[in-house]
Amino acid sequence: MDLYYKDKFVAQALYVKGSSCIKILTLKKEDIDRDFFYRRIKRAIEYRENILGFKDTYRMIYAEGDYLPSIVLDKYNNIGSMQLSSKIMEKYAPIIYECVEELTDISTLYVQGANKGDSIKSKIYGDKNNIETIIKEGNGKFKVNLKGHKTGFFLDQRDNRIDIEGYIREGDRVLDICCYTGGFSVHCGIKGAEVLGVDISKKALEVAKENMELNNIENYNFIEGNAFDVMRELIEEGESFDVVILDPPAFTKTFKDVKNALKAYNTLNYLGLKLAKRMLITCSCSHHVDREMFKNTVISSSLRAKKEIKQIGGYRTQSPDHIITMANKNLEYLKCLFFGIE
Ligand SMILES: C[S@@+](CC[C@H](N)C(=O)[O-])C[C@H]1O[C@@H](n2cnc3c(N)ncnc32)[C@H](O)[C@@H]1O
Repeated sequence: MDLYYKDKFVAQALYVKGSSCIKILTLKKEDIDRDFFYRRIKRAIEYRENILGFKDTYRMIYAEGDYLPSIVLDKYNNIGSMQLSSKIMEKYAPIIYECVEELTDISTLYVQGANKGDSIKSKIYGDKNNIETIIKEGNGKFKVNLKGHKTGFFLDQRDNRIDIEGYIREGDRVLDICCYTGGFSVHCGIKGAEVLGVDISKKALEVAKENMELNNIENYNFIEGNAFDVMRELIEEGESFDVVILDPPAFTKTFKDVKNALKAYNTLNYLGLKLAKRMLITCSCSHHVDREMFKNTVISSSLRAKKEIKQIGGYRTQSPDHIITMANKNLEYLKCLFFGIE
């Protein structure tokens, strides 16, 4: 739709039903066609390849970060995985596939809706049998299946997962809470840690085991269950871990639920700190919980758990292929803090 202010054209934008905001597509009166998408996608790829140095696997389109609202596209070798968060964008999927196929080595594009109930049909463009691949991340290898969670793999934690290796020692016991397909577990296992991973998804844990084997890691175990329950049981059993990693899903998707989300983060971090001896790695991917709110919550958990924590390094966030423009503060959503414990 065209937006006007005092009869003067301002922008072309998407209005997403049920949302309180509109998403700007362009400030020009231009056609939203193949050429439009081609230019924006090319620019997104060039920035990642030329400035950030990404090659085979990376987030290729990050919505407003690439001036392509409602579109997220991850590249896993020659497979693309795209999530659309507005129905209008569905009609552009074939064009986007054409552009991506022309600009990269991608030969399969899996398209799905970002949220349940948004009535976007899942569809595969290109080679329909090409839905699984093995990607490299630092010293680790991971199997990615497009029919997994979100786009198949959480690329946003890439740098934090790679960096964790520097803090793991041979023989450490590591607890990886909300481990999904074993992202942090693999990097800890590579360094010789004994890993216990916990996740509520059976499907994710099956892939997590395959990933441990893919990396020749033998000393691991996974528990399928609710993180809060499992952690309480581990405390009752008198267990402790050198390093505890907490990477839960977003606890809130709206401003009005922030208070409850902070309570959940407080409890999760309290339980994590009760179990942790040397380090706590703690994350939040809730857009509406900002850095300070999150850090203050962890401080409060540490007081409850009677553990002195020291922040290691600065605030960590998402991997840089999840572009943060200066125009949209909501693009920076991932919070990750490394703490030493005394
Ligand atoms: C942000 S992802 C974790 C990503 C992972 N750390 C990685 O690096 O790939 C969150 C995970 O939490 C899991 N999850 C959601 N609710 C949970 C719960 N109550 N207890 C345990 N796991 C849960 C989801 O299945 C998902 O795998």
